[in-house]
Amino acid sequence: MESSIKINNHSLLSKIATNNGHGENSPYFDGWKAYDANPFHPQHNPEGVIQMGLAENQLSFDLIQKWIESNQNASICTPQGASCFKEIAIFQDYHGLPEFRTAIANFMNRVRGNRVRFDPDRIVMSGGATGAHETLAFCLADPGEAFLVPTPYYPAFDRDLRWRTGVNLLPVVCESSNNFKITREALETAYEKAKFDNITVKGLLVTNPSNPLGTFLDRETLKDVVNFINDKSIHLVCDEIYAGTVTKGDAFVSIAEVIEEVPTCNLDLIHLVYSLSKDMGFPGFRVGIVYSYNDNVVSIARKMSSFGLVSTQTQHMLASMLSDDKFVENFISESRIRLARRHDTFTRGLAQVGIGSLESNAGLFFWMDLRRFLKDATFESEMAFWRVIINEIKLNVSPGQSFHCSEPGWFRVCFANMDDETAMIALWRIKSFVRKNRNLKIKTKNQYWQNNQHLRLSSRRLEDMLTPHRMSPHSPLASPLVRAQN
Ligand SMILES: Cc1ncc(COP(=O)(O)O)c(C=O)c1O
Repeated sequence: MESSIKINNHSLLSKIATNNGHGENSPYFDGWKAYDANPFHPQHNPEGVIQMGLAENQLSFDLIQKWIESNQNASICTPQGASCFKEIAIFQDYHGLPEFRTAIANFMNRVRGNRVRFDPDRIVMSGGATGAHETLAFCLADPGEAFLVPTPYYPAFDRDLRWRTGVNLLPVVCESSNNFKITREALETAYEKAKFDNITVKGLLVTNPSNPLGTFLDRETLKDVVNFINDKSIHLVCDEIYAGTVTKGDAFVSIAEVIEEVPTCNLDLIHLVYSLSKDMGFPGFRVGIVYSYNDNVVSIARKMSSFGLVSTQTQHMLASMLSDDKFVENFISESRIRLARRHDTFTRGLAQVGIGSLESNAGLFFWMDLRRFLKDATFESEMAFWRVIINEIKLNVSPGQSFHCSEPGWFRVCFANMDDETAMIALWRIKSFVRKNRNLKIKTKNQYWQNNQHLRLSSRRLEDMLTPHRMSPHSPLASPLVRAQN
C-alpha cells in the first residue's frame, strides 16, 4: 500500500526529479553513512570512523583567520565595514562585482606562477565548480550528446554534467600500467566507440590536477589533448580546481599556457572550470568560475549564471582578501608546504608497511594501491575489502570503482581534512592492521584465535583476503608505478 502511494507520488513529479541522477542512493554513500553514524572524536568517540573521503583543505585556516582578524573592514558585518552594507546588499548584477572578477583573475594567474593572464571580463560566476560544470554542459551539448572523460574521474561529474542536462559521459579508459596516462590511443578508442554506438561526442573533460590520482598532466600530454580535440572539432573542458595544491610549485602546466604554444588551436573550443573550494579551502562559499575563450559561451554562461550567483557579501569579502598580494603569496606557498608534509607523512608511513601509492604531488588525496589485499581481482572483492576498511579499520576512504577506475584495488585517501593528531591515528590504524595481518600468517590459526578472541569474526575475513595464493596477480611489489618497497 505504502509503496503504491510512493509510486503514485512519483508519477506526479518530473522524470528528472525522480531519476537517480543525483547518485545519493549509490552504495558508495555507505561509507558516509558509517561515518555519520559513528564519527571519530579524539575524546568523545576515539573508536569512531575517521572521515578520509572528503577532499577538503583545512590545513591553513589559521592563516585565513589571522587575515580576517586584521582586516575587519573586509566584512560588511563589522563596525569597520558596515558603511558598505547597503551598497553590497542591493547589488544584483550577474556580471559580479568588478573588483571580485579582477581579484579572481589575478588569483588564477598567481596560482599558475603568473605565466598566464586571465581576463576579468571572461570570468563568469557559478555555484562552485559543480555549477560551472553543469553550465558548460548546458552551453556545449544537447541531451543525448556526450563528453569523453578519462578514468578514473571525480564521481560527482555523473551528477554535475548529466543529471539535469541529459548529457552523457563516456569513459576514456586509462590504466595503471602507464600511471593512468591519457594517451592519444585511449582517446581515439573512446571516440571511435562512441561513433560506433551512434553517440555524438561534443567534448572532452579533463581534470588537471586529477581527482582522484593527485597527479598532473605534463606539457606534451596537454598538447596531445589539444591536438585531439582540434582534429575532432570538439570542446575541451579543463577542470583546474586543484591548480594551487601542486606541491611541486611551478611545475604545474595550465591549459591556458599550452593553448598559446599550439598555434593551430581553435580557442573557441577551450573552456576552464575553477573554484575556490580546494586551493583556498572554501567549499562553503560556493565560488565557482567558468572561464571560456569562446565569446558566445561567456555571454550565454553569464546569462545562465543567474541560477547560481555567488552572494555579493562573499564577493565583497573575497575581493578584499584576494587583492592582498602579500597574504595570497604567503598563503599559497605555506599551504603547499603543509600539504606536501601531510602527503609525505601518509605515503611514507604506509610505505613502511608495504602499502604503495601512485606517485603524486597535487590534490588533497593520494591513490592507494591495495590490490594485493583483494581476494581476487574483481570489483566485488574491492567492495568487500572496502567494507572491512570502513567497519573494522574504521576509515572512510573511497573505492576506485566509485571513480570508474578500470582496475579493482585502488582507493582514494583524503588527507587534508583533519588535524595532525587525527592523521596520526588514521595512519596508525592502517599500519597496525597490516602488521596484525602479517602476524596472522606466521601464527597457526588456533594460536591466533586464542590470542585474539575479540578479533575473531573480522580476522577470519581478513585471513581469507590475505592468503598469498589469493592475492591479485598485479601485486604492487611488481608494479613500476608504486613507490613503496617492502
Ligand atoms: C575535480 C572536481 N571538480 C569539481 C568539484 C566540485 O567543487 P565545488 O565545491 O567548487 O563545487 C570537485 C570537488 O571535490 C572536484 O574534485
